[in-house]
Amino acid sequence: VTPEERLAHHGDVDARAGLVDLAVNVRTGTPPQWLRERLAAVEVARYPDPTEATKALAARHTRAPAEVLVTNGAAEAFTLLGRAVDAQLPVMVHPQFSEPERALVAAGKPPRHVVLREPFVLDPTQVPDDADLVFVGNPTNPTSVLHPADALRALARPGRTLVVDEAFADCVPREHESLAAAVDLPGLVVVRSLTKTWGLAGLRVGYLLAAPELIARLAAAQPHWAANALALEACVACSEPRATAEAAQWAADLATERAFLADALSAIPGVHVVAGAAAPFLLVRTPLPDVWLPLRDRGYAVRRGDTFPGLGPDWIRVAVRTRDVSMAFAATLAATVQECS
Ligand SMILES: Cc1ncc(COP(=O)(O)O)c(C=O)c1O
Repeated sequence: VTPEERLAHHGDVDARAGLVDLAVNVRTGTPPQWLRERLAAVEVARYPDPTEATKALAARHTRAPAEVLVTNGAAEAFTLLGRAVDAQLPVMVHPQFSEPERALVAAGKPPRHVVLREPFVLDPTQVPDDADLVFVGNPTNPTSVLHPADALRALARPGRTLVVDEAFADCVPREHESLAAAVDLPGLVVVRSLTKTWGLAGLRVGYLLAAPELIARLAAAQPHWAANALALEACVACSEPRATAEAAQWAADLATERAFLADALSAIPGVHVVAGAAAPFLLVRTPLPDVWLPLRDRGYAVRRGDTFPGLGPDWIRVAVRTRDVSMAFAATLAATVQECS
């Protein structure tokens, strides 16, 4: 496996048809029916106009419309940042989602790695002072760790672009530690996505929040009509109070189900669950390397951990689902570890 292939690997490859999917972190049962109906009613004969979506997202995050750019998924936001932000020393805080790094590499700006060790909580002093473009996830994929907002604030400074990937922030009760509304931090960019909570991975819906000058520069690097009409309608719909209330309820329910799964997995001899999980998945260390392979033979897709910088073959990432799925999975992992060790 080349480093490029490693970076390009995502859970959707692990989640083969017929397996119980614990590899992809999209909320089960989404998109909800009300959202499907809104999308089905969208007029697609016209070119898309992002004005209403931009206003709705700005209001949701108490920002100005000039501070919002709707993108073709968070993935496009990373590409635009890679292309439009000059950087002598880009830095990637790992382990984290690999698309930002792929975008930087594609733009000829391969980043230096700052690799956090367990408990995987950000120590701002680990980031070199002269780093002028820093990417960090909050909560982070794959560790599920939520960094304190103050640790992120300590990274912001004039002359540096600080990108906080908040693709999972709406899975956190009250979105605490989110910097989406922060307008006082120089160079701050917050990246958000509608993929996970709303089940819109295939629609491609994300956005950026940043100072107006940077938004204008990123918009200039973006293809015209990058955000399609359905994606724009999703931005409006998912910013409405009914949607934010639904997301808040999901975040609360998720915390209970995640604790249940963490307890069940931690009870297996030799299995260790990273503490402080805040996202809809757990990072798990197992006594058996490449356990994702025998688990696949037993009907489960989990995300292999070895492609993430800083992790190795004894790590897996496991999505939180319903209690019965968690119980059955824990039993299967226990049996696999016992039989294959
Ligand atoms: C941390 C993180 N950021 C961003 C993304 C990509 O989001 P989108 O589907 O909006 O491109 C993902 C998807 O897996 C992710 O895990």
